[in-house]
Amino acid sequence: MMLAGAAVLFALVLVLFLMVYRRPGWGSRVSPGRWIVLGGLVLPAIVLIPLICYALYAGEQLLPLPGHAPQRIEAIGKQWNWTFRYPDQGGVETHGVLHVPAGMPVDIVVTSQDVVHSFWIPRFAGKIDAVPGHATHLRIQADQPGEYEGLCNQFCGLGHAGMHFSVSVDRPEDFAAAVKQAATGEGMK
Ligand code: CUA
Repeated sequence: MMLAGAAVLFALVLVLFLMVYRRPGWGSRVSPGRWIVLGGLVLPAIVLIPLICYALYAGEQLLPLPGHAPQRIEAIGKQWNWTFRYPDQGGVETHGVLHVPAGMPVDIVVTSQDVVHSFWIPRFAGKIDAVPGHATHLRIQADQPGEYEGLCNQFCGLGHAGMHFSVSVDRPEDFAAAVKQAATGEGMK
């Protein structure tokens, strides 16, 4: 959306540029004051105001609001791996693989057992610090089932570069079974 808005603004500026270029003198019929008002205020306002409204709306969707209770999953960082806990699925744990249901908001509660790490799934929402003794919240929503990559994004010692995890986005009807299978599969190892 942001890219589309920027492209529209760029196209409008290009049109103005071409008009002035092809018909020299065209621009001088408009007074400098009017250029500033039209080109500097009206033109960007047409594009930027809808974009700001959209950004605020999209941002609100990502805020963990009290009262609204989507799926909650805990992500615990530790030198140098990630454990995921699913309170809504009986508190089972998976290691190195985060399962999330597709098409619904999920609150990831991020914390650390030792040093500061950073939880990041580049394809999803922003990264967030994992701080020992503190729980930070990050709301994500994955639209398409599939496999994604996650990683630690804060230097946390010698094993930092290998502190990856994978994200399995499951169809909502498969989610509970997938978590259970992942948790018990590990238990048998
Ligand atoms: Cu954990 Cu870098």
